[in-house]
Amino acid sequence: MSDQNTPYLKNTWYVAALSTELDKDLLSRVLLDTKIVFYRKEDGTPVALLDRCPHRFAPLSMGKQCGNDVVCPYHGLAFNSEGNCTSNPHGNKRIPTKAKVPSFPLMEKHGFIWIWMGDEVADENQLPDYTTLDTGHDNAIAYTYMKWPCHYELIIDNVMDLSHVDHLHGEIITTRGQLSPQIPKLEENAGQLAASWEWKQTPPMLIFNDFLPEPGKEASHRVTVTWAKPANIQLSIGCSQGNQPITFESEESVSQYDLHVCTPESENSTHYFFVTRRNHHVEDAEYNQIKIQNMHAAFELEDGPILNAVEEAMETPDFLSLDPVLISSDAAPVRVRRTLKALIEEEHKTKLTLAS
Ligand code: FES
Ligand SMILES: [Fe+2]
Repeated sequence: MSDQNTPYLKNTWYVAALSTELDKDLLSRVLLDTKIVFYRKEDGTPVALLDRCPHRFAPLSMGKQCGNDVVCPYHGLAFNSEGNCTSNPHGNKRIPTKAKVPSFPLMEKHGFIWIWMGDEVADENQLPDYTTLDTGHDNAIAYTYMKWPCHYELIIDNVMDLSHVDHLHGEIITTRGQLSPQIPKLEENAGQLAASWEWKQTPPMLIFNDFLPEPGKEASHRVTVTWAKPANIQLSIGCSQGNQPITFESEESVSQYDLHVCTPESENSTHYFFVTRRNHHVEDAEYNQIKIQNMHAAFELEDGPILNAVEEAMETPDFLSLDPVLISSDAAPVRVRRTLKALIEEEHKTKLTLAS
């Protein structure tokens, strides 16, 4: 398990899985260096337990679910959703007092299973409001997940500095070089940091072009990325013609509302969850598949390989310790790094104070 020296914020919500990943089978996943088994109770409530039997430490995920309990594959001890042993098939069948597995608070929201891995009481109010994901046509929302072998903060940096789109990405999301000359507008509010870019381009971004009133003609564009601790980035992007407002709610603009969430598996591996909801072409479920394929192609062929090469060249996860050259587009990601570092240090300090 991770300890207080591991560099993760603990008293916060991370995405553990897509809701759709938890079905009939036990799911084993390492989060923050901790191996966890997930399943659903008979009423559908999700459960997370440490994936290690307290007897001889067999992974519970190799066992089976029996009603609302999970049964260890090795000698058959059973544990309930709170991690308490409910059955010992051996000897006098007495349940040893130490037979308990740590359990973790979960919350199911916006199509994700969120997990709280810190010692403090889980606080549902800490999750930002992403309810825009919950309303709209069922076919206008698409989810995906991939595991990527790099430090999670490199993925946060990548999404918080979208100027790389001008240089790294191909035709489908090109801005015709319009982001790099701009200094992104930053806004900080209630611990969240937003960076926005606004520009005009002809033709419009290809992901939106066909849905505009005049395809191929100049359109105004806006993108905003909003970071919230620990590793949630809400990305809103859209465009319009004829000075119409660019908001997800406006029928005059062609927009999408995305959430990128990174959960560290370990120092060099990240669970990358992604959802996109659009306000146009809402009934086409097949178009969802195209959106998700495009996300995978862009990340796996363009962003991901650069992040791996960067990580190898850095030889440390501490980007700022390398005294990097910083340019105007770094303002948001650097501020996020500093904020996250301060939050982690604060959490460690509190823990040490309580322990002394
Ligand atoms: S290791 Fe689990 S019951 Fe023995
Ligand atoms: Fe990218």
